[in-house]
This record gives sequence, structure tokens and C-alpha cells, in this order.
Amino acid sequence: MKTKNEIKSSPLAAGIVNKSNKSKLPSGDFPPHHMVNLNYKLNYIFARRSIRKYQDKAIPEEMLADLLAAAMAAPSAVAKDPWHFIVVQNRETLNKLTAILPNGKMLHQATAAFVVCGDISKAHRQQESYLLQDLSAAVENILLAANTLGLGTCWLGVHPREDRQTGIRQLFTLPAQIIPMCGIAIGWPAEQPEARTRYNPDRVHREKW
Ligand SMILES: Cc1cc2nc3c(=O)[nH]c(=O)nc-3n(C[C@H](O)[C@H](O)[C@H](O)COP(=O)(O)O)c2cc1C
Repeated sequence: MKTKNEIKSSPLAAGIVNKSNKSKLPSGDFPPHHMVNLNYKLNYIFARRSIRKYQDKAIPEEMLADLLAAAMAAPSAVAKDPWHFIVVQNRETLNKLTAILPNGKMLHQATAAFVVCGDISKAHRQQESYLLQDLSAAVENILLAANTLGLGTCWLGVHPREDRQTGIRQLFTLPAQIIPMCGIAIGWPAEQPEARTRYNPDRVHREKW
């Protein structure tokens, strides 16, 4: 079992994205440590980090369209596609969102935001769990697509906090069956956190718990 420090000092945790990077660390873990290096082919995943500082630069409309296309390419239970995306570019509305999302202050800088909502009446078996799983898959697609296009994003939690959901409901006058799940701040990044995984061998179970 590796200690936190051993994981921290590994080439993997250091965020080295290199085809030839093979860890020499001994391993009794599965998968062996050298197999969980940051494979450069998956850099679009490892380099996706939460971006909270943005440049004052417009995002082309086609790029926002690309993100929405990526969102709606996500898996969805029984392909119910219960998602809705509110595209926000108006500065005043972005600023209003920061009042509802106390951990979303970066929206003052962001050029755009999506508010990701789901229609409970469209979800598989009308169950909230299916709705949230579908929306989460779409959100991750957006984050990965944005990173691939050079944009920065940050997931902003709304659900299950009642106050945040109420604030979003009121700001956008949402119909009753629409559940707001999260916001996504979007903009050209003004910071570049290192590519990494938070791989933890303790979370992997081979054949049995
Ligand atoms: C459900 C959820 C809610 C989150 N809410 C916020 C938020 O309100 N504000 C924020 O700055 N980051 C938020 N994040 C981003 C996490 O803080 C971030 O993903 C985590 O620290 C890991 O860092 P990374 O995204 O750079 O890998 C949220 C992420 C998730 C999945």
C-alpha cells in the first residue's frame, strides 16, 4: 500500500505527460504502478483542470456550439436525453449568477457560462438519479471538449443545495419540471494548472472488495 507521500512524489502525480515515462516504483498494487502513468494519448483527460482565472476575450459562437454538440453526445439512460443547457454570455446575468453561487466568483471574469438543467418528466422512469447521471455525463463531455479546444472551464455546484436551486429557478424562471444541476464557467484560461490524475490505488479492488 502506498502512502500519500509516495503517491505525491510519483511521476504520475507530478503530472508528467510523456510517452516514455515508466515508473520504476515497486508495486504490489493492481494495476501495477507503471501501468497507470499519464498516457499521453489521454492528455485531454489529465490536462482538464478547473480553471478559475480567465482572459478578457470572446469565445466564438462555433466553439460554444461545439461544446453543446459534445454535451449531447454523452451517454443517457435509454437515450432519454433529459438535458437542457442555458447559455449565458450577458455580463449582467453572469454577475447575477455569482450572487447565487458563492463558490462561483470566477464568473465575474468568465466570458460565458452554461447552466445545466434536466427535465424530470423526460428522465428514465422519471427518476432524479437517472437525470443526474445523464447530466453529469454531459457535463464531463463539455469539460473535456472545452479543454481540447483550448478553453478553460469550472464546474459550479448547484444541486442538491435548495438555496442555489431556488436562486437559479428564479433568475431564469424555470418551469416546475426543470431541475438545475450545475453551472459551468467558460473562458479562455489565464492559468494552466498541471496535468494530473488523483489516482489512488486504495480505490481499486481486484476481483473482490
Ligand atoms: C459536483 C461538483 C461541484 C463543484 N462545485 C464547484 C464550485 O462551486 N466552485 C469551484 O470553484 N469548483 C467546483 N468544483 C470543482 C472541483 O473543486 C474540482 O473539480 C476539484 O477540486 C478537482 O480539481 P480539478 O477539476 O482541477 O481536477 C465542483 C466539482 C464538482 C464535480
